[in-house]
Order: sequence, then C-alpha cells, then structure tokens
Amino acid sequence: MSIEEYREFHRRSLENPEDFWTEQAQAIDWHRPYDKVLDYDNPPFSKWFVGGETNICHNAVDRHLEERGDQNALVYVSTETDEQRTYTYRELYAEVNSFAGIFQELGVSRGDRVVIYMPMMPESIFAMLACVRLGAIHSVVFGGFAAANLATRIDDAKPKVMVTTNAGKRGGNVIPYKPLVDEAIESSEFPPEHVVVCSRDIEADQPEAGDRVRDYAGLREKHANTEVPVEWLESSEPSYILYTSGTTGTPKGVQRDTGGHAVALTVSMKHVFASNPGETMFTASDIGWVVGHSYTVYAPLMYGMTSIVYEGLPVRPDPGIWWNIVEEHGVNTMFTAPTAIRALRKQDPEYMTKHDTSSLRNLFLAGEPLDEPTSRWVSEALRVTVRDNYWQTESGWPILSSHLPGLDPSTIRVGAAGFACAGYDLKLVNEESGEEAKTGERGILTIQPPLPPGFMSTVWGDDERFVETYFSDFPGRTLYSTFDWGVRDEDGYYLIMGRSDDVINVAGHRLGTREIEEAMSDHPEVAEAATVGVKDEDKGQAVLAYVVPKDGDKVESEEGRSELEQSIKDIVDKEIGAIARPKSVYFVEALPKTRSGKMLRRSIQALAESRDPGDLSTLEDPSALDSVRASTSD
Ligand code: PRX
Repeated sequence: MSIEEYREFHRRSLENPEDFWTEQAQAIDWHRPYDKVLDYDNPPFSKWFVGGETNICHNAVDRHLEERGDQNALVYVSTETDEQRTYTYRELYAEVNSFAGIFQELGVSRGDRVVIYMPMMPESIFAMLACVRLGAIHSVVFGGFAAANLATRIDDAKPKVMVTTNAGKRGGNVIPYKPLVDEAIESSEFPPEHVVVCSRDIEADQPEAGDRVRDYAGLREKHANTEVPVEWLESSEPSYILYTSGTTGTPKGVQRDTGGHAVALTVSMKHVFASNPGETMFTASDIGWVVGHSYTVYAPLMYGMTSIVYEGLPVRPDPGIWWNIVEEHGVNTMFTAPTAIRALRKQDPEYMTKHDTSSLRNLFLAGEPLDEPTSRWVSEALRVTVRDNYWQTESGWPILSSHLPGLDPSTIRVGAAGFACAGYDLKLVNEESGEEAKTGERGILTIQPPLPPGFMSTVWGDDERFVETYFSDFPGRTLYSTFDWGVRDEDGYYLIMGRSDDVINVAGHRLGTREIEEAMSDHPEVAEAATVGVKDEDKGQAVLAYVVPKDGDKVESEEGRSELEQSIKDIVDKEIGAIARPKSVYFVEALPKTRSGKMLRRSIQALAESRDPGDLSTLEDPSALDSVRASTSD
C-alpha cells in the first residue's frame, strides 16, 4: 500500500465513521447487533455500537474453541521461578471458567469491581478474563506499587473481591505481595469482602489466615468443572478500570467500555501490529500497565494468537533470554519499551545474534520517545523492522504508528512516531492560542472528538473530571489534550517530544509529580518539595527532587544531607513504590513559584537539563531559582 492509499483509508475512517466502523465491527462476535454505530449526542462522551451486546471473554476465549481449541493461547515463561507452562485455548477456557465459578461463589456479579494485585503469572490473566466473563470490572494494580497506593485504588473502586499472591520475585529477590495487601486493606475505607490468594512456591511470609482470605488452589479444585455462561453486556458497559497518573496527586481511573474496546483492539492487530491469527505475539510489559492489558492479554487473544507471558528481566539469566524465547516459540510480533532495548544495548552484542530470531517480523516499541541510535541499533542487531507507536493509557491502543496497513518499511522515518491511526482526528495546536500549529511548528497534540472506539469512556465515577482534565485546555474548542508536545512534518509524520504537563516518564512508566511530592511532604522534616523529570540516557527520564527542609541546619553537613536524602527516598518507596524513587534529592532554601503559588517545575527542569529557564516574570521570589541553580550545578 502506498502512503496515498493509507491516507485514503484514514480519511474514510473520519469522513464516514459509520461505514468504516461497521466494517471493523465484523471482526468480533456480537450476541445482539447494535442499533447505532455512534452516539455523540452528549459531547465529549462517545458511545460506540449502541444497543449491541457482546462479551470480551467470549471473544478472547470461547469463540476460538472450535477452530483453535488445541492451539496455545498462553505460553508462560518465568525466569524468576524457572517455570514454563502452556495453556491451549481449551485449557484457558477451563481455567477462566473455574475462576469465574470462584468469583460467583464469592458473590461477584455484573458491575462489581475486583482488584487484581499480582505479578506476571497466568492466574492474573485467568482472573482478568473471569471478571469480564461475568461482567465484573477489574482494576489491575501494578505489583510494584506500595500499600498506600494500593489503598487509594481500593477506596476509589470499592471492590467486592481482591486477587493476590503470597509473593513474587524480581531479579531473584523475593517481593512480598500479601503483606502489602493486608497493610492496604487496613488503611482503606472500603475493603473487599474476600481476598483470593494464589499462593506460589516462593519462600515468603505466609498469608495470615484472616477472615477474608480464600485459598485459590482449594477453590480451583472445587470449581475444576464449573462452566459459567458469559454475561452479555451492552457495548458501553465498563470492562475495566486502570489508574493512571496526571497532574494532580490522585490517580484517575481510566474506564474502558466493552464493544468499542473489543473492536478497536482486535482490528489493531491487523491494521497496526501487522499480525495474523494463529501467530505468536510476545509483549514484554507488565499486566499492571496498559500495554500489558491490551497487548499481552486482550488483543492477541481476541485475534486468536498465542501470547507469551514473561515474568522476569530482559537480562537475566542472560541478555539473550528474550531472543531465546523468540526462537523457541517462533515469535512473529514483539512489543516492548525502548528502555528495555537500551538496557540490552549495554550488554555483550553476541547475545543479539546467538539465537535464530528469523520468525520475528516486527519489533514494536512504545511508551516513551524512541531515540534514533536505539532504533537503528536493534534493527541492525536483530535484522528486524522496528516500529515506533505512540499512545496512552487513555487511548488503549495506538494513536500514532509507523506501521499502517501494508505500508512498506521504506516509509518508516526513524525518529518519528508515525501517522495518525484510523479513527483519530488529530490536531496540533498552539499551547496558548489554541490555534493550529503550522507544519514543522511545535504544538500540543490533541484529538478532535468523537474519540474512536476503545478510547477511555470516562474517569471512573467522575464524568466531570473527565471533561475538566482532558477537554478544558483550549477555551471555545472541545479538543482532547494528550498533554504531549509534537511536531508534524510536511508528509504527515508526527514526532513526539514529551509531556507538556507535570507527568514524568521513567523507563516507560508514567508517574505524577504531585503524587511523588505528596509522598515526600509526609516526611516530618520536609517543609516543601518539588519533583521534575530530567533526561536520562538509560531510562528516558529520571526523577529529581528539590526539597526545602524544615530545619536548614540539618543539611549543613554532608552526613546530614545524605541521611535526609536517604530517608526521603525511603518514604517515596514506601508510599508509591521503588519506581518513583528520586535519583537525587537536592536541598534548597526556596522553590520557584509564581505569585499565584503555582510551582514553576518547567523552569526547574530546564535548569536541571542546563537549558534556559524561560520567562520568569511571574516569579514571586527570583532568588528561589538561584537556589535551585546552585544546587543543580553542585
Ligand atoms: O508522553 C507519552 C509517552 O507515554 C505517555 C503515555 O504513557 P502511558 O499512559 O503509560 O501509556 C503508554 C502506552 C504505550 C504519552 O502521553 N509515550 C508513549 N508512547 C510514546 C510516547 N512518547 C514518545 N513516543 C512514543 N512512541
């Protein structure tokens, strides 16, 4: 396909969405046909396939039984527990049904919430699919998040049941799960009635046999032959909630629908990920993040592929482990984040060619800007086509992609994230005026609603917050803001340059500055704190913290400084998780703020990256910036 033909395909998705999405909707099974493709009567909320009834678990499992019953649905490889297990679609059907039977026994039904706090193990996926089978709404919380973070998510979702494990491992070190769940439940206002514990053979503190605890192994045996009919849901009913960070201290519950989600993800396998049913996909991302939800679990299964579920690091037991998996399981499509590739680039190059990776057609990378050297290096080392794609938790599937239906690899422009995917009406607009940016001019990437199928439908329990957060940046215009800076060239390629808000992206993990600052402010010796994300060669960005101590004398000595720095890092570990731990903590006398009290994080960030801090006329106390400047140049 030529670029012109692609443009036509994209244009049709916008000019004639009804026909376009009617065609796409045939990719899934409907129990009841929809009455209307799109209901956009209440902007900016879009409802897709109104009146249609379907079920995601039916589409991901049941409907494949006839043709693919003996094909592997999941291949689980753990280099943490040295296990490998495979599940055919038929076996997956049995596991999901027994988990659904367990949920039913525990009183879970349509619309109830289930919090899943698990490592990468097949039981996590059984639990997710069992929820959608019943019409229950799962909220998977990343296993690296600390108890306090988990508690916030419990209280927002008010789950009936939680699913966890006794322990996981990372890099060979045991990570307790159940004790954190206990701690989170203790501090939450809306604890679940039951906690299903999928215990594994890892030495760790055994779960306390509290009233809530239910042992998965025993329940699974009891429900070994249970079959639970799928619950047919109206297309707009929620399938899941996934919390993500933004500008405020409280994460937002991104709510996904059912019908739009199923259609968008299924067809994205063809249109964006250039894959075929029956092939194998390996998405190396944790199920606690959106990439894991969409491309380890839902999209490959709904499309009838085999999905590799990997628990472990990319460099352990050796840096060839991923390519070993590719060889052993004939992986055709792979997806991960640039940070993982940068980590591999530091290793002995021999590992890149030790295995036969000829089955691999495309390597998709997303989650953070993909730098040219990393892209070129991995493409040459593996002799594979590297495809950048850009999206967000909110969108659930790519907004921009360098692979579009049949486009030749020669059309890829290294350094650009690609073209708009079908269904996305993108506008680059000037941050201040809201007017469209010219070709080559920097602007904020926005989407003209109606948002396409699969995009978040609202913020869980808070429609107003959805509108206010995403649609209020450009007065007089209803545009969804991605909060990302971008540039479009004359050929329509977009380049993404990072967030315009205060979100930090460490190794593809999205963190909110306010959340980290609030955790630091809980430290008894911290008067005020600011965090910024600065360029980092390995992880894309690193978190730096600027702290005004309550007692300046304490940080006079080197020893005092390092002691306080350590205990500030510890509190972030404890309240959010190690991924948010600042790389360095600088002590300053004041933080730069405007006269109205708004923290000038962008100026701090600019100084930390040795750039011009920009317009400082609104600064309340100009000496505050000197203090930051002095600490940064130490
Ligand atoms: O800033 C963009 C960056 O990651 C943010 C979304 O992160 P998250 O919600 O975790 O979803 C990740 C889904 C892949 C975006 O707002 N980002 C994501 N992909 C790219 C990217 N930045 C540059 N290039 C990309 N390909």
